[in-house]
Amino acid sequence: MNAAAPFLEVRGLSKRFGSLRALDGINLDVPHGGLTALIGPNGAGKTTAFNCISGALRPSEGSIRFEGHEIAGAPYHRVARLGVVRTYQVVQPFAEMTVLDAVTVGALLHHPRVSEARAFAGETIEALGLGSKRDTIARSLTIADKKRLELARALATEPQLLLLDEVMAGLTPTECAAAVELLRGLVAREITIVMVEHVMEVLMPLADHVVVLATGKIIFDGKPRDAVNDPAVIDAYLGRP
Ligand SMILES: Nc1ncnc2c1ncn2[C@@H]1O[C@H](COP(=O)(O)OP(=O)(O)OP(=O)(O)O)[C@@H](O)[C@H]1O
Ligand SMILES: [Mg+2]
Repeated sequence: MNAAAPFLEVRGLSKRFGSLRALDGINLDVPHGGLTALIGPNGAGKTTAFNCISGALRPSEGSIRFEGHEIAGAPYHRVARLGVVRTYQVVQPFAEMTVLDAVTVGALLHHPRVSEARAFAGETIEALGLGSKRDTIARSLTIADKKRLELARALATEPQLLLLDEVMAGLTPTECAAAVELLRGLVAREITIVMVEHVMEVLMPLADHVVVLATGKIIFDGKPRDAVNDPAVIDAYLGRP
């Protein structure tokens, strides 16, 4: 990586939908390595931020630099090729594909030969414990396996920065614990993670850094232990015990 440039640097990022300011001039720095938690109430703009960073949506204003490359408004395949990939909150596009085919789509990014892409997808599926489901149609997987498939599809692109949008939603405590171990393994492999999640008990122990969004603005940026004691964060999101 380019040692001189910040890893992810977002400046003045806004996204308007008609008169609604889903993101209102946010500034965000994500260092290389570790896990940043992006939290906030429903409708705060978390998914919109991921959409803008990953190239799924063109921002209305602002700059997004990844390792020195301006990626605001760049198409998602260019952003993915640079190493920034997201998962989807609602698993949709690959519903009719088998697990192996869905993950192969991700693997094709860096393995243009289909045979190599399939082999790499197979390894990724195994590593995520989905090996026995490789020929299952995605639509018929359990929620936990659909989430795992989302992760496998993203990992098959060999990301440097992984944006995880509620990959633990709907999981049982046991499944959550397995997912936490998996994420710790990714961080150990130096994949930087930004994670949107509503389950604070799971997220806070994992996070090195916390960013709180509320109505399109960042209201907190700092350490997890400070976030849980911050009056503005408590008012906007966490609530009082
Ligand atoms: N494509 C769109 N067109 C119009 N409005 C949108 C669009 N996408 C998001 N919004 C609106 O933008 C705001 C932010 O939505 P967003 O999905 O980013 O919130 P979120 O923080 O991810 O919420 P949640 O926790 O419920 O997933 C909401 O008011 C939402 O209704
Ligand atoms: Mg969302």
